Amino acid sequence: MLWRLFVDLGGKLLAGREERFVAVRSSRVAREFYSVPVCSARVHDYLLRGSNSFSADRRYADSFAAVQPRVRRLLRTERVFWTRAVCFMLDRGIRQFLDLGAGLPVHDGENDLAPFHGQDDQVRFVHIDSDPAAVAHGSMLLSRRSDNLYLQADAADVAHVVSACVQSGAIDVRRPVGILAVGLLHLIPPRSRPKALVSRYCSVFAPGSVAAITHLTPRFGGEHRAEAARLIAGPDRTLYPRSRAAVQRMFSGLKLVQPGLTLLSHLWRPGVPVSEFEGAQVEGLLGGLAVTN
Ligand SMILES: C[S@@+](CC[C@H](N)C(=O)[O-])C[C@H]1O[C@@H](n2cnc3c(N)ncnc32)[C@H](O)[C@@H]1O
Repeated sequence: MLWRLFVDLGGKLLAGREERFVAVRSSRVAREFYSVPVCSARVHDYLLRGSNSFSADRRYADSFAAVQPRVRRLLRTERVFWTRAVCFMLDRGIRQFLDLGAGLPVHDGENDLAPFHGQDDQVRFVHIDSDPAAVAHGSMLLSRRSDNLYLQADAADVAHVVSACVQSGAIDVRRPVGILAVGLLHLIPPRSRPKALVSRYCSVFAPGSVAAITHLTPRFGGEHRAEAARLIAGPDRTLYPRSRAAVQRMFSGLKLVQPGLTLLSHLWRPGVPVSEFEGAQVEGLLGGLAVTN
């Protein structure tokens, strides 16, 4: 709650150019942190009951969530799937993770990543997001963790992302990588070739790499589809739901892990108790995980 007061106050002060009050590491980061009126990563954090949002984000979320309450379940379900996917990858010995379209990697006031780092000091995460406000805020939240890197990049620019990861020393392409594209691919427009994105990443990393994706189909949102799309994509983006067959093709050339591409959440890796929504599927939300040969 105090943090929420802090960010609201910080935003107002910055609007008046009083940057000296902001406890972030550089004025450039501060400007990016506060300059976007509504940031979808902060909207999602608020919907996940986190405390990293401004009043503008909360007003935006509330105006749509009132008619589309299922969005909260969708976001929570995606976080649960993300966690299950990381657990699966850790079990296979993967220690380096590329989190594409990361948003804010925290919610409920806790760092989602803490339990994974506790297991093994080799674990590394690189978070990628194209939204400068999300990156500035996420970097600040993770600033005390040397085992996390947060980069601003377009996830569809595979060559650029891989080269940034390699140059920073955070990812070794000779070892398998866990690729997480959770809540991202339905935001990638057709011109950026979303269908080939997963296989393009997999082709760069060592065999044994694992990719986890979620994707919305046109069934999500029902009669309140437009409100759902505004909540998920944010004010400046378009949502691109795709058919099950199109999502299935995103795994072409890879070996799907049982139970395959399923409606989230309870069908994928049941028995890992991480959700208050356990047992409830989200209509129109698919998820799956595949391994490279
Ligand atoms: C729904 S949030 C998902 C957050 C997180 N992965 C989760 O599962 O909770 C989608 C994020 O993808 C980011 N995004 C959208 N298009 C992107 C792109 N082309 N490259 C990188 N990030 C992108 C958005 O800024 C947003 O923070």
